[in-house]
Amino acid sequence: MLSTPKGITVERDTHFIIDTPENITATYKRQMLDLIDLGGQVKRVRAEPGIENAQLIGLTVYQTQVIATCCLKNPLHDYKQQIFKKAQASRSPDLYNVELGYITTHPDFEGEKYCQHLLKEFFFKISHLSMFATTRKPAMKHILEKYGFYQLGVRYGDQLDLELMLYEGAFG
Ligand SMILES: CC(C)(COP(=O)(O)OP(=O)(O)OC[C@H]1O[C@@H](n2cnc3c(N)ncnc32)[C@H](O)[C@@H]1OP(=O)(O)O)[C@@H](O)C(=O)NCCC(=O)NCCS
Repeated sequence: MLSTPKGITVERDTHFIIDTPENITATYKRQMLDLIDLGGQVKRVRAEPGIENAQLIGLTVYQTQVIATCCLKNPLHDYKQQIFKKAQASRSPDLYNVELGYITTHPDFEGEKYCQHLLKEFFFKISHLSMFATTRKPAMKHILEKYGFYQLGVRYGDQLDLELMLYEGAFG
Protein backbone atom coordinates (compact mmCIF):
# COMPACT_ATOMS: atom_id res chain seq x y z
CA MET A 1 0.00 0.00 0.00
CA LEU A 2 1.30 3.42 -0.86
CA SER A 3 1.70 6.09 1.75
CA THR A 4 -0.74 8.99 1.71
CA PRO A 5 -0.19 11.47 -1.10
CA LYS A 6 -1.03 14.46 1.05
CA GLY A 7 1.90 16.86 1.15
CA ILE A 8 3.64 15.45 -1.92
CA THR A 9 4.95 18.11 -4.28
CA VAL A 10 4.67 16.88 -7.83
CA GLU A 11 7.88 18.50 -9.08
CA ARG A 12 9.94 17.49 -6.04
CA ASP A 13 8.76 14.00 -5.14
CA THR A 14 7.70 12.54 -8.46
CA HIS A 15 9.20 12.24 -11.91
CA PHE A 16 7.81 11.64 -15.37
CA ILE A 17 8.82 8.92 -17.80
CA ILE A 18 7.71 9.50 -21.37
CA ASP A 19 9.11 6.96 -23.75
CA THR A 20 8.42 4.19 -26.23
CA PRO A 21 7.37 0.76 -24.88
CA GLU A 22 10.75 -0.86 -25.55
CA ASN A 23 12.44 1.71 -23.30
CA ILE A 24 10.08 1.22 -20.34
CA THR A 25 11.28 -1.35 -17.82
CA ALA A 26 9.30 -4.55 -17.25
CA THR A 27 8.68 -3.47 -13.64
CA TYR A 28 7.11 -0.18 -14.66
CA LYS A 29 5.08 -1.89 -17.38
CA ARG A 30 3.74 -4.34 -14.81
CA GLN A 31 2.87 -1.50 -12.45
CA MET A 32 1.18 0.30 -15.33
CA LEU A 33 -0.90 -2.78 -16.09
CA ASP A 34 -1.81 -3.15 -12.41
CA LEU A 35 -3.03 0.45 -12.37
CA ILE A 36 -5.03 0.08 -15.59
CA ASP A 37 -6.56 -3.08 -14.10
CA LEU A 38 -7.44 -1.20 -10.93
CA GLY A 39 -8.99 1.63 -12.96
CA GLY A 40 -11.54 -0.91 -14.21
CA GLN A 41 -12.04 0.59 -17.68
CA VAL A 42 -9.91 -1.80 -19.74
CA LYS A 43 -9.32 -5.51 -19.34
CA ARG A 44 -5.74 -6.50 -18.51
CA VAL A 45 -5.58 -9.01 -21.36
CA ARG A 46 -6.38 -6.24 -23.82
CA ALA A 47 -4.11 -3.64 -22.23
CA GLU A 48 -1.06 -5.91 -22.28
CA PRO A 49 -0.67 -6.08 -26.08
CA GLY A 50 -1.95 -2.50 -26.35
CA ILE A 51 0.96 -1.24 -24.26
CA GLU A 52 3.53 -3.22 -26.23
CA ASN A 53 2.11 -1.90 -29.50
CA ALA A 54 1.83 1.73 -28.30
CA GLN A 55 3.64 4.69 -29.85
CA LEU A 56 4.38 6.39 -26.55
CA ILE A 57 3.84 5.75 -22.86
CA GLY A 58 3.60 8.34 -20.11
CA LEU A 59 4.13 7.51 -16.45
CA THR A 60 4.31 9.49 -13.24
CA VAL A 61 6.51 7.75 -10.70
CA TYR A 62 6.45 8.48 -6.99
CA GLN A 63 9.59 7.03 -5.38
CA THR A 64 9.63 3.68 -7.25
CA GLN A 65 5.88 3.38 -7.78
CA VAL A 66 3.90 4.27 -10.89
CA ILE A 67 0.98 6.43 -9.73
CA ALA A 68 -0.38 7.79 -13.03
CA THR A 69 -0.38 6.52 -16.59
CA CYS A 70 -1.33 7.53 -20.10
CA CYS A 71 -0.60 6.11 -23.51
CA LEU A 72 -0.62 7.01 -27.18
CA LYS A 73 -2.05 3.86 -28.71
CA ASN A 74 -1.98 2.50 -32.22
CA PRO A 75 -5.59 1.39 -32.51
CA LEU A 76 -6.50 -1.62 -34.61
CA HIS A 77 -8.16 -0.56 -37.86
CA ASP A 78 -11.42 -2.45 -37.29
CA TYR A 79 -11.73 -1.27 -33.67
CA LYS A 80 -11.36 2.37 -34.75
CA GLN A 81 -13.88 2.00 -37.58
CA GLN A 82 -16.38 0.40 -35.22
CA ILE A 83 -16.10 3.15 -32.62
CA PHE A 84 -16.64 5.93 -35.15
CA LYS A 85 -19.56 4.01 -36.61
CA LYS A 86 -21.21 3.35 -33.26
CA ALA A 87 -20.78 6.99 -32.24
CA GLN A 88 -22.25 8.02 -35.62
CA ALA A 89 -19.33 10.38 -35.99
CA SER A 90 -19.53 12.84 -38.86
CA ARG A 91 -15.72 12.86 -39.22
CA SER A 92 -13.74 10.13 -40.94
CA PRO A 93 -11.79 7.76 -38.66
CA ASP A 94 -9.00 7.90 -41.22
CA LEU A 95 -8.18 11.42 -40.01
CA TYR A 96 -7.28 10.13 -36.53
CA ASN A 97 -4.45 7.62 -36.56
CA VAL A 98 -3.74 7.39 -32.86
CA GLU A 99 -5.74 7.04 -29.66
CA LEU A 100 -5.06 8.57 -26.28
CA GLY A 101 -5.87 5.96 -23.65
CA TYR A 102 -4.94 3.89 -20.61
CA ILE A 103 -5.28 7.04 -18.52
CA THR A 104 -5.34 6.20 -14.85
CA THR A 105 -4.32 7.61 -11.50
CA HIS A 106 -3.76 5.42 -8.45
CA PRO A 107 -6.83 5.76 -6.17
CA ASP A 108 -4.62 7.02 -3.30
CA PHE A 109 -3.56 9.92 -5.50
CA GLU A 110 -6.82 10.81 -7.27
CA GLY A 111 -8.08 14.37 -7.29
CA GLU A 112 -4.59 15.82 -6.80
CA LYS A 113 -4.12 16.78 -10.47
CA TYR A 114 -1.67 13.97 -11.19
CA CYS A 115 -3.54 13.08 -14.36
CA GLN A 116 -3.41 16.65 -15.60
CA HIS A 117 0.26 17.09 -14.72
CA LEU A 118 1.14 13.94 -16.66
CA LEU A 119 -0.98 14.90 -19.67
CA LYS A 120 0.68 18.33 -19.72
CA GLU A 121 4.10 16.66 -20.07
CA PHE A 122 2.75 14.12 -22.54
CA PHE A 123 1.21 16.82 -24.73
CA PHE A 124 4.58 18.48 -25.27
CA LYS A 125 5.33 15.36 -27.36
CA ILE A 126 1.97 14.63 -28.99
CA SER A 127 0.00 17.87 -29.39
CA HIS A 128 0.70 18.04 -33.14
CA LEU A 129 -1.15 14.76 -33.77
CA SER A 130 -4.84 14.31 -34.52
CA MET A 131 -6.18 11.70 -32.14
CA PHE A 132 -9.26 10.27 -30.54
CA ALA A 133 -10.16 9.02 -27.10
CA THR A 134 -13.19 7.31 -25.62
CA THR A 135 -14.53 7.71 -22.13
CA ARG A 136 -17.51 7.16 -19.89
CA LYS A 137 -16.07 9.21 -17.02
CA PRO A 138 -17.22 12.83 -16.57
CA ALA A 139 -13.90 13.69 -14.87
CA MET A 140 -11.98 12.29 -17.85
CA LYS A 141 -14.16 14.18 -20.32
CA HIS A 142 -13.60 17.35 -18.31
CA ILE A 143 -9.81 16.85 -18.41
CA LEU A 144 -9.75 16.00 -22.13
CA GLU A 145 -11.76 19.13 -22.91
CA LYS A 146 -9.16 21.18 -21.05
CA TYR A 147 -6.62 19.79 -23.53
CA GLY A 148 -8.71 20.70 -26.58
CA PHE A 149 -10.67 17.50 -27.17
CA TYR A 150 -14.32 17.79 -28.10
CA GLN A 151 -17.10 15.23 -28.09
CA LEU A 152 -18.51 14.09 -31.43
CA GLY A 153 -21.55 11.98 -32.27
CA VAL A 154 -23.83 10.09 -29.92
CA ARG A 155 -23.28 8.06 -26.79
CA TYR A 156 -22.76 4.39 -27.55
CA GLY A 157 -21.98 1.04 -25.93
CA ASP A 158 -24.16 -1.43 -24.03
CA GLN A 159 -25.03 1.17 -21.40
CA LEU A 160 -24.99 4.08 -23.88
CA ASP A 161 -22.42 5.71 -21.64
CA LEU A 162 -19.37 5.87 -23.90
CA GLU A 163 -18.40 9.04 -25.72
CA LEU A 164 -16.02 9.63 -28.60
CA MET A 165 -13.66 12.57 -28.08
CA LEU A 166 -11.59 14.08 -30.89
CA TYR A 167 -8.52 16.27 -30.98
CA GLU A 168 -7.35 18.10 -34.08
CA GLY A 169 -3.57 18.19 -34.24
CA ALA A 170 -1.57 20.40 -36.53
CA PHE A 171 -0.12 17.66 -38.75
CA GLY A 172 -2.60 14.80 -38.49
C1 LIG B 1 -10.17 9.73 -14.34
C2 LIG B 1 -8.85 9.79 -13.60
C3 LIG B 1 -7.73 9.38 -14.56
C4 LIG B 1 -8.58 11.22 -13.13
O1 LIG B 1 -7.30 11.27 -12.52
P1 LIG B 1 -6.95 12.36 -11.40
O2 LIG B 1 -5.47 12.34 -11.22
O3 LIG B 1 -7.78 12.15 -10.19
O4 LIG B 1 -7.41 13.71 -12.13
P2 LIG B 1 -7.00 15.20 -11.78
O5 LIG B 1 -6.90 15.35 -10.30
O6 LIG B 1 -5.82 15.61 -12.61
O7 LIG B 1 -8.25 16.01 -12.35
C5 LIG B 1 -9.57 15.71 -12.00
C6 LIG B 1 -10.47 16.78 -12.66
O8 LIG B 1 -11.76 16.20 -12.87
C7 LIG B 1 -12.72 17.05 -12.26
N1 LIG B 1 -13.83 16.20 -11.86
C8 LIG B 1 -13.87 15.31 -10.84
N2 LIG B 1 -15.07 14.70 -10.83
C9 LIG B 1 -15.77 15.21 -11.89
C10 LIG B 1 -17.07 14.97 -12.39
N3 LIG B 1 -17.90 14.06 -11.83
N4 LIG B 1 -17.47 15.65 -13.49
C11 LIG B 1 -16.64 16.56 -14.09
N5 LIG B 1 -15.39 16.82 -13.63
C12 LIG B 1 -14.98 16.15 -12.54
C13 LIG B 1 -11.99 17.73 -11.13
O9 LIG B 1 -12.64 18.91 -10.70
C14 LIG B 1 -10.64 18.02 -11.80
O10 LIG B 1 -10.73 19.10 -12.69
P3 LIG B 1 -10.19 20.60 -12.31
O11 LIG B 1 -8.72 20.48 -12.03
O12 LIG B 1 -10.49 21.43 -13.54
O13 LIG B 1 -10.98 21.03 -11.09
C15 LIG B 1 -8.88 8.86 -12.35
O14 LIG B 1 -10.00 9.19 -11.58
C16 LIG B 1 -8.90 7.37 -12.66
O15 LIG B 1 -7.86 6.76 -12.82
N6 LIG B 1 -10.09 6.75 -12.74
C17 LIG B 1 -10.19 5.32 -12.98
C18 LIG B 1 -9.74 4.96 -14.39
C19 LIG B 1 -10.49 5.73 -15.44
O16 LIG B 1 -11.69 5.85 -15.40
N7 LIG B 1 -9.73 6.25 -16.44
C20 LIG B 1 -10.28 6.97 -17.55
C21 LIG B 1 -10.39 6.02 -18.70
S1 LIG B 1 -11.13 6.85 -20.08
